Amino acid sequence: MTSSSAEPAPDSGPTSTTSTTTTSTDSASGPGVFELGGTVTIPRLGFGAMQLPGRWSGPAGDTAKAVAVTRRAVELGARYIDTAAFYFSPTHRANDLLREALYPYASDVTIATKVGPLRNETGEMYAEARPDQLRAEVERNLEDLGVDTLDLVHLRVGRLSGGVAESLGERFAVLAALREEGLIRQLGVSNVTSGQLAEARSIAPVAAVQNRFGVLDQGDAALVDECADAGIAYMPFFALGGGHTDLGQENLRKVGERHGATVHQVAIAWGLARSPSIVQIPGTASLAHLEENVAAGRLVLDEDDMALLGRRG
Ligand SMILES: NC(=O)c1ccc[n+]([C@@H]2O[C@H](COP(=O)([O-])OP(=O)(O)OC[C@H]3O[C@@H](n4cnc5c(N)ncnc54)[C@H](OP(=O)(O)O)[C@@H]3O)[C@@H](O)[C@H]2O)c1
Repeated sequence: MTSSSAEPAPDSGPTSTTSTTTTSTDSASGPGVFELGGTVTIPRLGFGAMQLPGRWSGPAGDTAKAVAVTRRAVELGARYIDTAAFYFSPTHRANDLLREALYPYASDVTIATKVGPLRNETGEMYAEARPDQLRAEVERNLEDLGVDTLDLVHLRVGRLSGGVAESLGERFAVLAALREEGLIRQLGVSNVTSGQLAEARSIAPVAAVQNRFGVLDQGDAALVDECADAGIAYMPFFALGGGHTDLGQENLRKVGERHGATVHQVAIAWGLARSPSIVQIPGTASLAHLEENVAAGRLVLDEDDMALLGRRG
């Protein structure tokens, strides 16, 4: 990520990420790397920023803690961070927290954002952006993050509960044009069907798909395999159940006991073993959970583990 030259770094800039290349203990690169769009090398264990601002109805976000978690994620080797301008709570916004933690951004850190859902100041996702509203959404992310070009922008479509089979062509073409203009380096799609991915790919190259998928939630398996065949990164959201699904399932616990690992670590490792196209973006606002999640990059599951956990394809 190259920071905007026009923007001064905030006073509270980072202590450990001011150089152009960050130092790392490389825990997150244990599972290897993915060539994003065939041009950018990222470790397959990244970080999701959605939890950083805190929940709408729950404990408020904590700036110092969120900044510490973000810097630690990068220090531990995460180089792909997923965010959105619509990740905010009554007190905090994910993009502000990332900027406070990491600006000026190290050149080897990729920050991916997404546009599509429109969210009002009461937290309600009230509509999807029309094609003519997408430029403003992209510009909002540029401004929030303090950059001239966004590394990767996903077009996120469909309802919160799942994808809907609607054309995304007109909206994706707007993002493709903004890429041509130099505001975006790479494009992704989120919450899509195979048909919608094909539609997007007919307009411009797609570097990443971000859909719901996890060890207890394998409904999107065919698209995971399709992405692997096409060299497209598949970034599952809710790989840890999103805080909604209990991971205390018997087989997850069994595999965890075999390896001395937690069920959350097994869920992360399962995705990494499931497909070479998967780049994990587990979300957390907790330092302890972050350390645990990154350590999952060193957990290698064998055929017996995968047989127990299932591998729909
Ligand atoms: N495209 C989309 O539609 C979409 C939708 C949702 C999310 N996303 C992206 O995907 C990323 C991941 O999704 P997510 O954060 O919603 O869900 P997730 O990664 O499946 O799970 C996050 C939840 O698990 C908890 N958690 C994390 N690590 C844990 C651990 N080691 N032990 C126990 N609990 C743990 C977190 O709480 P703590 O904070 O307490 O650790 C949080 O409640 C997000 O950050 C966001 O960037 C995209």
